[in-house]
Amino acid sequence: MSGRDGAGTRLQAVDLRTRALDLTELMDDPDCDPRALARTFRRFALVNALVSGWRAAWRTHVAPALPANGRGRILDLGCGGGDLARALVRWAAADGFEVEVVGADPDARAIDAAQRSTPRGVTFRQQSSQELVAAGERFDVVVSNHVLHHLGDEERHGFLADSESLAGSRSLHSDIRRSTEAYRLYAIGSALVAAGTFVRVDGLRSIRRSFTLPELRDALPTGWRAEQAAPHRVLAIRDA
Ligand SMILES: C[S@@+](CC[C@H](N)C(=O)[O-])C[C@H]1O[C@@H](n2cnc3c(N)ncnc32)[C@H](O)[C@@H]1O
Repeated sequence: MSGRDGAGTRLQAVDLRTRALDLTELMDDPDCDPRALARTFRRFALVNALVSGWRAAWRTHVAPALPANGRGRILDLGCGGGDLARALVRWAAADGFEVEVVGADPDARAIDAAQRSTPRGVTFRQQSSQELVAAGERFDVVVSNHVLHHLGDEERHGFLADSESLAGSRSLHSDIRRSTEAYRLYAIGSALVAAGTFVRVDGLRSIRRSFTLPELRDALPTGWRAEQAAPHRVLAIRDA
């Protein structure tokens, strides 16, 4: 690799052989600049649309797990600014489904950002997975985007156990697949959309924290499977 990663580090100097669990994201700092954070939530909607592969995952893994009558409830756990929840309702309508999507996140700042746009069929709640389980909630499909890499081992076990309890049909958690190519491409591409946001630094840190496919396989509890999704994604899947 050549060049710098936008956080000032030479690309050749970045060690991607193991997960960089010591790195935290700028947007997780409760004292970070709220205007930069609001811009970051909006800009991640664009980044997610470009890199996260959810359009394909909706067709291959979400829609087939919904009830045959075309109606269903989907939970987006750790919804952040809410772009995936909104996209799921849009894609569902385009494919003849009528779904209710709940986006949940314990971070009040994320729910604030998400609630700026709530199309019909989408609601956002400031709740964690644990709180949803305690409230006795059930959904057909539980999804998340970019949450697995964000959590420590114990939190991830709890999150996946909560997902199992909440999902009547399928859990589907999508994340980045760590590789030097993903890192290099993001370092170059994110420069175009990162101005005034945490998108570049946090995205690169996220890649460094994320799993390879074998690592994700090893990290998942019994009953879960890991799949690679093109081109730089991994999926953690559990069928109820
Ligand atoms: C890296 S952000 C991803 C946000 C969004 N899904 C996206 O792709 O832009 C991870 C989010 O997971 C949320 N989170 C962490 N633990 C959670 C839990 N147990 N239940 C629900 N959300 C959780 C955090 O508050 C944070 O907003």
